[in-house]
Amino acid sequence: MDFKTLLDKQDFDIEDIVRLLDCNPAEEALLFAKADEVRLANVGNGVYGRALIELTNYCKKDCYYCGIRKSNKSVERYMLDFEQVKYAIHLASDSGIGSMAIQSGELSSPEFTDFVIRILNYAKSIDPNLGITLSCGEQSPETYKKWFDAGAERYLLRIEVSDEETYYNFHPNNELHSFQNRLSCLQSIRDAGFQTGTGVMIGLPGQTVESLAKDVVFMRDFNIHMCGMGPFIPCNGTPMENAKSPFEDLVGMSLRMIAVMRIVMKDINIVASTAMETIHPQGRSRAIQAGANVVMPNVNPLEHRKKYKLYEKIPTGIIDSVDSLINAAYAPIPEGYHLILNQKGTAPHYLKEHLI
Ligand code: 5AD
Repeated sequence: MDFKTLLDKQDFDIEDIVRLLDCNPAEEALLFAKADEVRLANVGNGVYGRALIELTNYCKKDCYYCGIRKSNKSVERYMLDFEQVKYAIHLASDSGIGSMAIQSGELSSPEFTDFVIRILNYAKSIDPNLGITLSCGEQSPETYKKWFDAGAERYLLRIEVSDEETYYNFHPNNELHSFQNRLSCLQSIRDAGFQTGTGVMIGLPGQTVESLAKDVVFMRDFNIHMCGMGPFIPCNGTPMENAKSPFEDLVGMSLRMIAVMRIVMKDINIVASTAMETIHPQGRSRAIQAGANVVMPNVNPLEHRKKYKLYEKIPTGIIDSVDSLINAAYAPIPEGYHLILNQKGTAPHYLKEHLI
């Protein structure tokens, strides 16, 4: 089958996806053009913005790739206080960006659960229309339900690596890092009613085009509403600090993963991740051109931003006003696309599932 015919298929198997990911430069141009066509037909040329706060870098886990893993003693730990979070909520609300995302290391104390509830209650009290995404790791079904009931609508938990055996090359093999638990958390997230997001890292040692194709199929079969993927970037002070990418062109492979996800899942939300920008100066713009439709400008206080280092990040500007937030959201958006304001930014994939 020629590449163009392949692109027009409605159902893709692993072999098809391998071919899409493993294409030559001429085919890659066709892949990106198809992804853009699918994107325009299903989610339009708008890009949703989420004001991102990184609530805490305390984490009970020890994932080998992550800069804020528990064993990394060189990390100065912080927890934003309520006033700092309030400031970010007001910024997000006043700007009309429509939604915010709250990301954190993984903590499961009752105090942390309640702190998140307090934040959600406050956000909902000042702006019931603000969409809120949580990304606070593996929790009990009860905690997910509590957070959903308090007003969070979306939850992002990356599976990171969708193959159980390979998962343990990058995580300690113990109860705290159980692949099965991560899977059942994803299910609990969906059961709690959240718009559910997952994703993987691209460029982990030993990863193959075939394993990435399986990741795509995993996400499709789980029928997710949102996808957050990005390149793996080795982080100093972690067991994987010297790891090498198996892909010569990591930028290209990451973009092709976005394009393939757009073609395979059509109407989901896909993030143009900060990690993309870290490996390429126009990484997020190119991600948008390849099919991504969400940007997440970071509104954390600058002093803490440096401490939330999952990998070596490039420094970004201060966001401390409505104008700077909107400018930061606009910055990566290429010509032909625009920032959508005053909407929560729910993926059509979720709306269709729930309105029928
Ligand atoms: N490089 C790229 N992404 C990373 N993450 C964690 N560590 C790294 C790294 N070194 C990703 C994980 C996690 C998300 C918040 O950041 O996928 O889910």
